[in-house]
Amino acid sequence: MSGPSTSDPAGGFPPPAPPILEVSNLRCTIGGQQVVEDVTFSVPSTGITAVLGRNGAGKTSTIRGILGLIHRRGEVRLAGERIDGLATHRIVQRGVGYVPEDREVFSKLTVAENLALAERQRSPRRELVEALFPDLVARRDQAAGTLSGGQQQMVSVARALLNDNRILLVDEPTKGLAPKIVTEVADALEEAAKSVPILLVEQNLDVVRRLAGDAIVISGGRVAHAGPARDILADEDLTRRLLGVHAEAETPDALSERSESK
Ligand SMILES: Nc1ncnc2c1ncn2[C@@H]1O[C@H](COP(=O)(O)OP(=O)(O)OP(=O)(O)O)[C@@H](O)[C@H]1O
Ligand SMILES: [Mg+2]
Repeated sequence: MSGPSTSDPAGGFPPPAPPILEVSNLRCTIGGQQVVEDVTFSVPSTGITAVLGRNGAGKTSTIRGILGLIHRRGEVRLAGERIDGLATHRIVQRGVGYVPEDREVFSKLTVAENLALAERQRSPRRELVEALFPDLVARRDQAAGTLSGGQQQMVSVARALLNDNRILLVDEPTKGLAPKIVTEVADALEEAAKSVPILLVEQNLDVVRRLAGDAIVISGGRVAHAGPARDILADEDLTRRLLGVHAEAETPDALSERSESK
């Protein structure tokens, strides 16, 4: 495989890295019903890209379509290679990690057991996970079902981080969490994104503002807008129309008080 040239005779900036994920004309159905109409976007190879949109816009279905969990048509490329014809387990083996909408833990198993069951490679990245989630190390023998919502979310993210994924698809990790815990989950995602790009479905615009470089807005199963997250959030008309909120009216709440828990 011939990669991009690293020499730069003009002496300028190196060319930007190619996107890690490219989705073109994705259309998805569930039980014959169209839930994603026509979605095209790409995800840079570093940082966090946010997926925004109202309830029922098609955010989760887009993620599930990329993973082949629902019937889909169109093109999906991971690091340039087509994955839209592959079965879900093959897509996962290629390095697409998934943290689903309803945090997924085995409630009767301990934290350590939940993590051990997620390890699928010879040298799982336990040190990274232990450094990122010291709270989970302390609670390793606790049944996951007795953890708080935020701690369960950490287990869910940790499970995806144990393997050398090339991208993580994370669906609404802060949903239903108290503001202080939202901040902790955001801290963890920010740290995680230093080692793997993340496509993040997120309705908390303070979290998006803090974490995301780029964002796409899905409306009615289509991409209604794409660009730098801060531009989208600064556009009051757009956020009112497509997200149904006044972005400016959101309070910074506990985000400014972060690091309290560190
Ligand atoms: N199992 C299903 N069967 C039929 N229609 C579904 C199913 N799941 C989702 N849909 C429909 O698909 C559309 C997109 O739903 P999806 O869950 O992708 O939206 P979302 O943007 O993730 O919403 P939310 O913010 O509520 O999580 C909605 O109209 C929804 O009613
Ligand atoms: Mg959803």
